[in-house]
Amino acid sequence: MPTVLAIETSCDETAVAIVNDRDVKSSIISSQIPVHRQYGGVVPEVASRSHLETINYTISQALEESGLCWEQIDGVAATSAPGLVGALLVGLTAAKTLAMLHEKPFLGVHHLEGHIYATYLSEPSLHPPFLSLLVSGGHTSFIHVQECGKYETLGGTRDDAAGEAFDKVARLLKLGYPGGPIIDQLAKEGNPLAFALPEGRVSLPNNAGFHRYDASFSGLKTAVLRLVQSIEAEGREVPVRDVAASFQHTVARALTKRTIACALDYGLSTIAIGGGVAANSGLRSHLSAACAENNLRVLFPPLKYCTDNAAMIGCAASEHLALGHTSSFTLGVHSRLAL
Ligand code: KG4
Ligand code: ZN
Repeated sequence: MPTVLAIETSCDETAVAIVNDRDVKSSIISSQIPVHRQYGGVVPEVASRSHLETINYTISQALEESGLCWEQIDGVAATSAPGLVGALLVGLTAAKTLAMLHEKPFLGVHHLEGHIYATYLSEPSLHPPFLSLLVSGGHTSFIHVQECGKYETLGGTRDDAAGEAFDKVARLLKLGYPGGPIIDQLAKEGNPLAFALPEGRVSLPNNAGFHRYDASFSGLKTAVLRLVQSIEAEGREVPVRDVAASFQHTVARALTKRTIACALDYGLSTIAIGGGVAANSGLRSHLSAACAENNLRVLFPPLKYCTDNAAMIGCAASEHLALGHTSSFTLGVHSRLAL
């Protein structure tokens, strides 16, 4: 299998990795979270600038840590979509430049395909078909993984991504950024049944004409806002731990229900979870219990492969390059692109 130098700069992590198939030779991640924290979220312009500042150093570090030299690298890949346009451009341009300079094949990789491949890094024996549940700050997708390059999106979110909902609820509870880990921590000390919150049912068909597995989190966020406002209007102190626990419980229940339905309906016995929200303890326990009940296998890769990283991009690229797939140097970036 080809050894690939891969770059991921779709959002707020500048990441470079060197990967051969499912073997990670090096994986460097320079996180911008501290830079964006002061703004309460990712600022696209600031992200592009930070990628520019760190990309060259991150590439050198990845090479050095792998112990490999350019003669031992068979291809260069980068995330080309979806993501922040300016941020993507930094990584894609760096990858094209390196590929041209060292006369290597070049490949653009879809960010979500990378997240799917992340599971392979910790589960080398895993092969399709399986169901991939991707839950991050930017995405919520239920994907039927059929083979390399063949994916069927069975459902997603109609509005906010799961992680986005965590971040927005944390903001309205004045807890800080990113909100997911803070809510997770507080929820451990709260009562998940303290408040009944709406799960956000979707009844209208989406553009693609399906709706069965779609989720919606914006109504839930508004319900939390109303709940907090009504408690404050009564002059009472907001029981933050109970609100956090009830919110997390509702998200976990909504995602678990749809994931299990997808797996059973499509006859998929393995579920792989990815994205930052895969770290959520409520989701993990809900999903694990439901999978045990339904005789399904659920895989939770380590968090370093769930959140954005370049190793997952390299893993996908290695298989694509082995199949002879390459991209043209005219390939551009896209903020939105279906898998
Ligand atoms: O995958 P990721 O690092 O970046 C994106 O591609 O978005 O995911 C970041 C998201 C953030 O919204 C963050 O709040 C959420 O994942 N997150 C969590 C937890 N850890 C991170 N959400 C819930 N519980 C957690 N423990
Ligand atoms: Zn991601």
